[in-house]
Amino acid sequence: MIKKQIVKFRIRRYNPDLDDEPHFIDYDIPYKDHQVIMDGLHHIFQNIDSSLGYRWNCRSGQCGSCAININGVPGLSCRTNIDPSDLYILEPLSNFPVIRDLVVDYSIGFKRLAKLRPFLDRTSTPERPEELTRESLSIAADLRSCIKCFSCYAACPVVASAKQDFPGPIAMRELARFEFDPRDEGDRVQMAVSSGVYDCTSCGLCKEVCIPKHIDTRRKAIEGLRARAVDRDMGPLEEHQNFIDKIKSTGYSVDVITKPFTDQVPSIIDVEDPIDEITFFPGCLINLRLQHIGHNIIEVLKRNHIKVQIPKDFVCCASVAFRTGSRNITNDIILKNVKYFEKLRVKKLVALCPGCMSTIKQDWPVVLHEHGAQPYQFEPFDINEYLIREIGLKNLNTRELHPLKIKVTYHDPCHLNRSQEISKEPRMLLKLIPGISFIDIQQSDRCCGAGGGVRAGRRNLSEEISRIKVKLLTAPNPDIIATSCSFCFVQLTDAIKRADLP
Ligand code: SF4
Ligand code: SF4
Ligand code: FES
Repeated sequence: MIKKQIVKFRIRRYNPDLDDEPHFIDYDIPYKDHQVIMDGLHHIFQNIDSSLGYRWNCRSGQCGSCAININGVPGLSCRTNIDPSDLYILEPLSNFPVIRDLVVDYSIGFKRLAKLRPFLDRTSTPERPEELTRESLSIAADLRSCIKCFSCYAACPVVASAKQDFPGPIAMRELARFEFDPRDEGDRVQMAVSSGVYDCTSCGLCKEVCIPKHIDTRRKAIEGLRARAVDRDMGPLEEHQNFIDKIKSTGYSVDVITKPFTDQVPSIIDVEDPIDEITFFPGCLINLRLQHIGHNIIEVLKRNHIKVQIPKDFVCCASVAFRTGSRNITNDIILKNVKYFEKLRVKKLVALCPGCMSTIKQDWPVVLHEHGAQPYQFEPFDINEYLIREIGLKNLNTRELHPLKIKVTYHDPCHLNRSQEISKEPRMLLKLIPGISFIDIQQSDRCCGAGGGVRAGRRNLSEEISRIKVKLLTAPNPDIIATSCSFCFVQLTDAIKRADLP
């Protein structure tokens, strides 16, 4: 006889009329092929407990009403397939009051949207027929496709930290939808600036959870609105402008107060019997503040017989300009870097800073294309990606690694994990250290609050987001919190000091 497969659901139950506190109840669901989470909820309702509260309507990913947290991440229950080997922890969406069980009260989200006049705002009556072209509407096409499931709102770390202020990615998407619609006459940029367009940390989680439509709210809406704000002298924030001014005057986004890393090392770091040759892009932070990280990377590369070229005259990668909407300076910087790397005959460009490398991988090609320039000729790599995918785990020199009896947790940088899809590699490298006890925390990919200009421009908000992250990272009492981003490193170091941990 074939044994029936069972799926385990653990559901957060709460009936305010009966329960003092929410609690979890486990359910066994008979598994059938092609089953989705909603089928399991229907099974419970029809066969086990008809008091279970959950929402659904279209069953086809169109209405957005069935969004819940599935294993900690917002998703549509009608579109999430079940794997019988998994346990599914089902909870109501975060950042909303719970009405009952998996049903939340969306009023706060809809009220915030309503304040932004979410309709075509026109003062004049257009001549009929009104001429509309596919091109004129195409820029906002995917922004219009939102089904208002509020998954992005529920996931956003800024909404979670500043519940009364930021109307969330869904609202920024709505404003951008009208800003980029040639028919709309509302002042969407003013609305965006006054309702928190500079509060976004650029973490990218809103796109990741937008399973229904894959809308890239961070890039298309928030950075698009920020760029329009800069065009109209309504942005960036003063603190961001300081960075932009520094880039214009020195080529770097931070002050030159110590001897740059590039002046502390030779332009070519040769090794015996090299197995490969790379150019190391230090970025502004390692070059001018965290030089010890640069030296450590060079040491790792040397011990792995990798010859390193140091680009002495590189300039800022332009990440800060892209993220804050200051597109007017990005072209010069990128073209300057690309020409310089051509002159150096760079074949493989490796960086540690994920903010730099995701900008090089994703933004530079767009700018080069816009200017009719040739694509860059080198291969860009994050350092973890390079060591694991290019050199290979088995080929790495682990002979000189000293055993460390330490407990380590890891923070996934947003621009490494989400922007470059690199999360396994840093873990693989950490686990090479003999004696290490690696603990993967829940929400290791939750934003630390540094990015998007928030650390500089919205300090209180940034500190609140990092406080939440440090609490998660320190829960297992680690000896070390590891990360692979110089900016996250600075942010978490400050947050740990503020938390006054032992
Ligand atoms: S990118 Fe992150 S912080 Fe910004 S709106 Fe999206 S989820 Fe929120
Ligand atoms: S943008 Fe995507 S995740 Fe956010 S409400 Fe719309 S469909 Fe849902
Ligand atoms: S029930 Fe409509 S989107 Fe899931």
